[in-house]
Amino acid sequence: MQRVTGNTLKAAFIERFGGPDVLQYGDLPDPAAAPGEVVVDVAAASVNGADWKVRAGQYADAKFPLVLGRDFSGTVAITGAGVDDLKIGDAVFGVLEAGREGAYAEKLAIKAAIIAKKPDALSHVDAAAVALTGLTAIAAIETTLKLQHGETILIQGGAGGVASFAIQLARHIGARVIATSSAANLDYVRSLGADEAVDYNAQDFTRVVSGCDAVFDTVGGDVAQKSFAVLKPGGRAAFIASGMQAPKPERGDVTSLRPAVSRARAPLERIAHLVTAGAVRPPEIKLYRLSEAAEAHRLSEGRHFRGKLVFKVR
Ligand SMILES: NC(=O)c1ccc[n+]([C@@H]2O[C@H](COP(=O)([O-])OP(=O)(O)OC[C@H]3O[C@@H](n4cnc5c(N)ncnc54)[C@H](OP(=O)(O)O)[C@@H]3O)[C@@H](O)[C@H]2O)c1
Repeated sequence: MQRVTGNTLKAAFIERFGGPDVLQYGDLPDPAAAPGEVVVDVAAASVNGADWKVRAGQYADAKFPLVLGRDFSGTVAITGAGVDDLKIGDAVFGVLEAGREGAYAEKLAIKAAIIAKKPDALSHVDAAAVALTGLTAIAAIETTLKLQHGETILIQGGAGGVASFAIQLARHIGARVIATSSAANLDYVRSLGADEAVDYNAQDFTRVVSGCDAVFDTVGGDVAQKSFAVLKPGGRAAFIASGMQAPKPERGDVTSLRPAVSRARAPLERIAHLVTAGAVRPPEIKLYRLSEAAEAHRLSEGRHFRGKLVFKVR
C-alpha cells in the first residue's frame, strides 16, 4: 500500500483483483474539489451487483489502490470553484460518474451537477440504497421499456436491489407485475407489490408465464435468453446483467434492449420524489461497516440475499 501523508480518510479498497479477501480497510489521501466538483463526507455507501465484478477484474483497467463502490449519501464538505447550486452542509446523494468507482470511503469528490439534494424524509442509508438501483430501474422501466398503465411485465430477480425498485415503479405506473424469486423471497416480492410471484426453482417460468408486454431481466445468463419466450408479439425486453449488449432474441417479433443508465440530477430527483410520495419504499437493508467489506462482498457475490447491502460509513 502507498505511504500516506497529510489528511487521510478511511476506505475499503483493493490493490489487486481477486476474491473478497483482496479488500483492505485503511487510510488513503483526502480528495480535493476540482472546479465544478464538491467533496462529500460520505455517511452511507451501498454495495451493487457490479462491485464484486470490478473487484474480480471483470472490468478492464484500474489504477490501484482502487476504492470500490458507486453510490452514496452524505454531506457537502467542500465546494469547488463555480459550484453555486450546492453549499457546505447540504445533504446529498448520488452515483459516481459512469466507469468510476470510489464510494466505499469517508470522502469523495464528484461533479456537483450529477448529484441531488437528499430529501429529509430519507435517511442517508436509505438514500444510498436507492441511488444506483433507482437510476437503473427508472432507466429500464420508464426510459427504455416505456412501460404503460395496464401492461403486464415480468421482472426477473425480484428480490434484488434494482428489481425491488422496479417492481414498485411498475406498479406505480399501473402495470401488472409478475416477479421471479426463490421460495424464501416470494413474500418479500409480493410485499413490494408483485401481483404474482414465481418460485424459479419450483417452476420453469417459461411454462407458467406468457403474453407479457415487457420483461425486465436483472439476472442474466440463461434466464435472460429464455425470457424472450414469455413476450407477446411486439413485446420488448430490457437486460442489465448480460453485459453492455442486449442478448439476441431467437424470434424476430420482439425487441431486445440494453438500458443506458445516465448519472444526472433529474432522475435522482425523480427517485427522491417517488420515495417521498410513498410510491416506492426503500428495500430491505443489511448494514455493514467499511471494515467489513469482504463479508458484504461474499454475500453479494452469492447473489441470494434480498434488497440491499449498505455501508454505514459514519
Ligand atoms: N448500470 C447498470 O447497468 C446496472 C446497474 C445496477 C445493476 N446492474 C446489474 O444488474 C444485476 C442485478 O443487480 P442487483 O444489485 O439488483 O442484484 P444482485 O445482487 O445481482 O441480485 C441479487 C438477487 O438476484 C436474485 N436471483 C439470483 N438468481 C436468480 C434467478 N435465477 N432468478 C431470479 N432471481 C434470481 C436473488 O434472489 P433469490 O435469492 O430469491 O434468488 C437476489 O435477490 C447485476 O448483474 C448488476 O451487475 C447493472
